[in-house]
Amino acid sequence: MVWDPLLRLFHWSLVFFFFLAYLFESDQLNLHGHAGYTVLLLLLFRLVWGVIGSRHARFSDFVVSPANSFLYLKQLFSGTANRHIGHNPAGSAMILVLLISLLITAFSGTCLFAMEGSGPLANTFVSSWPGHVVEEVHEFFSNFTLILIIVHVVGVLLTSLLHKENLTKAMITGEKRRNPDLSGNCVGKPYHGKNV
Ligand code: HEM
Repeated sequence: MVWDPLLRLFHWSLVFFFFLAYLFESDQLNLHGHAGYTVLLLLLFRLVWGVIGSRHARFSDFVVSPANSFLYLKQLFSGTANRHIGHNPAGSAMILVLLISLLITAFSGTCLFAMEGSGPLANTFVSSWPGHVVEEVHEFFSNFTLILIIVHVVGVLLTSLLHKENLTKAMITGEKRRNPDLSGNCVGKPYHGKNV
């Protein structure tokens, strides 16, 4: 068991509510706004879970230096990358950038609603912020997030092919096969055995 039930629920809810917000940019039921607030709540949950969650959900388990991430990327493209039970070093960098980009998108969106007098931040310090700047930030980061998602999914597919392992299924069931020698269970201690 690698991904605990709450982390999986977080992931697939994030996918659902991000696309709901992205696709329903302007509608009468304000699906956009409600989906955006839900994304923000999910991200707040993930920040807490990154500290108190299960082993592979913790930031301490998967945050590595940028040099490590680049090294892993080089190895991925030359077909020599090691298998990781939790997030691999490139995946972990992508996930951090993705989480930050999502956070900026959801927060700036919440500020925009607040400037119109609605939502959880209405009538707070954000009311005096320059609306056009916040709008630019919101638009830029929502599109940037979409690009990151495409790279994220391509990365997941490439790694799945290299290690002959269905990572998407693992994010649904939570399970991955064990390393035969049980030695490579965490990021930073790569598995050096055969990836079969
Ligand atoms: C349908 C397309 C998607 C697939 C197949 C997919 C698959 C995956 C997989 C397999 C992982 C685990 C990676 C690993 O083994 O290290 C993962 C992690 C992650 N994905 Fe996706 N993903 C998809 C879409 C998205 C979208 C749309 C978002 C953001 C809105 C997203 C955000 C994340 C995040 C934040 C993580 C890290 C999980 C955590 O530790 O919290 N994914 N995804």
